[in-house]
Amino acid sequence: MPGFLILNGPNLNLLGLRQPEVYGHTTLADVEAMCREHAERIGVTVEFAQSNSEGTLVDHIHSCRERLDGLILNAGAYTHTSVALMDAISSAEVPAIELHLSNVHAREEFRHVSYIAKVAVGVICGFGPRGYTLAMDAMQAHLERAR
Ligand code: DQA
Repeated sequence: MPGFLILNGPNLNLLGLRQPEVYGHTTLADVEAMCREHAERIGVTVEFAQSNSEGTLVDHIHSCRERLDGLILNAGAYTHTSVALMDAISSAEVPAIELHLSNVHAREEFRHVSYIAKVAVGVICGFGPRGYTLAMDAMQAHLERAR
């Protein structure tokens, strides 16, 4: 069974409380439950993690190497700044999907820049929490295509 890591970056621990007008009222625990339920439905296993610290996110990405089949990453603000996360994805040699709850392209200009997209299979943004299950389906389709 394919295994995915769904990894969340800074401030996403406050999902549901933080700027609900942008990110909605769903909590990260709700998102995790949704992902676990969807994983059973589509026949994959998921690990789910969040960290506010860049180094810990790098460690999580490295942990995919030769162990997991796909990385779904909402890197939060580090998306727009972190060469270290970009390099970690290349180093882990794991297919990655960049994910955002909000449509970052309809927001401030600094959110239009992504270091993650440069090494990702694709990007999903603007669909709120539903984006997580869309990303799982997209990763599964990508793996089937690559097989
Ligand atoms: C986000 C978008 C980022 O620009 C922002 O810094 C976040 C959340 C999203 O899911 O929409 O923290 O990744």
